[in-house]
Amino acid sequence: MSTADSAVSGRAEALARHFADVFGAEPDGVWRAPGRVNLIGEHTDYNNGFVLPFAIDQSALVAVRLRRPGLECAADAVRAASTYSPTGQGLSRAAFSTGGLEPGAVSGWASSAAGVVYALGRHAGASVPGFDLLLDSTVPVGAGLSPSHAVEVAVIVALNDLLGLGLDGLEMARLTQAAENEFIGVPTGIMDQSASLLGREGSALFLDCRSLESEAVPLPLAAHGLAVLVMDTRVAHSHSDGGYGARRESCRRGAAALAAQSLREVPEDADLSVLDPVTLRRVRHILGENQRVLDVAAELRANNIESIGKLLTASHVSLRDDFEVSCPELDTEVEAALAAGALGARMTGGGFGGSAIALIRQDKEQSVSAAVLAAFRDKGFRRRQYFLSFRLPEQAGRRRKDSGAKEKSGPVKGPLFLSCAEGKGFEPLVRGYRTLVFKTSSIGRSDNLPPSSLADRCISPKFDQSPWRTK
Ligand code: GLA
Repeated sequence: MSTADSAVSGRAEALARHFADVFGAEPDGVWRAPGRVNLIGEHTDYNNGFVLPFAIDQSALVAVRLRRPGLECAADAVRAASTYSPTGQGLSRAAFSTGGLEPGAVSGWASSAAGVVYALGRHAGASVPGFDLLLDSTVPVGAGLSPSHAVEVAVIVALNDLLGLGLDGLEMARLTQAAENEFIGVPTGIMDQSASLLGREGSALFLDCRSLESEAVPLPLAAHGLAVLVMDTRVAHSHSDGGYGARRESCRRGAAALAAQSLREVPEDADLSVLDPVTLRRVRHILGENQRVLDVAAELRANNIESIGKLLTASHVSLRDDFEVSCPELDTEVEAALAAGALGARMTGGGFGGSAIALIRQDKEQSVSAAVLAAFRDKGFRRRQYFLSFRLPEQAGRRRKDSGAKEKSGPVKGPLFLSCAEGKGFEPLVRGYRTLVFKTSSIGRSDNLPPSSLADRCISPKFDQSPWRTK
């Protein structure tokens, strides 16, 4: 078993124990789904275009136990708890009923679980009984690495397994997208859940969002001495804020004005001058971005990883100037990273905050991070608490002070950094959900498993024992 596998098993086992503590019975199993970083292909998914994300080792784990007949709860009662709480203390709890769920009926983090139940009922004809669920995630919240999709995927994989629904990865991707769009009410595309469900170790996922055909394209970063540095601006963003939906609507209008079913169907020689200036810029981004994804995939297939740098940077310029979803903090990170020697850099995810990524040589991690931190300081941006660097084996998942930050005392402040490179030096890219399903029965009871950052966080107060009732 690799170190990463052991760490995950340790997390899963700790979560199972915590679940038993909280709910008074062992879970039926523990399931895992990763977050993702999008290498390139931004806002193309809902335009039937191409995307190239990769799944990361940071992941959501859910321990689940289907409701047994009993006195304590109604048969369709869901008791859900998350180890993430805004105050950093205790658990966040939620309760809902699986029967008669209507869009919007559950808010907050538990809407991800409720949305999946809703979508399974509405689109897969599944009748989901009540269950107890304990969530623990290492996907950072607000960094644009899809923490909520990871939760949705973990929940649907768990329910698919427990209820014997027989859904495949694509069906689950579509259902979690329906959960987002219809239940939670955010008009997101299908990229994030696909990356989580279909991602493979050491590869990026090339996905054609029209045909939903996918290919694992090798991303041997470590073999080339490279890394993808994820730089979190700590600028909060939300896809329900309106900017995301407005971009989607512009794209729809653009396609209609060009008499195309979607922007994917716009011919190369289409006359874009019929579009108003704003729509023209939006459309130009999508057309160019689709081509860049194809070009990056081609370079990766030819093992020319370094050559993708300039395409990543071109993507950022287009997102900044044409699609207008960047922000000063993201632009600063990209510019500072490039000035410090990154081979390419771009914002990643939906934009308006979240993270930028930089393709760097591994030996530049410190200098690029320090340069970005300095640029943040120079511009007077709000600086935050920690750098995170995920390196295996020595520093896996541990918070560490960054040498580039000259704080005299207290926590080191600055944007958040995660570094993801395949294999040596960092936590590996993940393997896809199938090999990441853990059942309590297969976890074993060994105490020799290495401690994980999660296990530390799992030591939290017990629930009060009063039964939760949803009615
Ligand atoms: C968010 C959405 C995705 C995708 C990206 C932008 O992450 O969830 O579906 O649209 O933004 O590429």
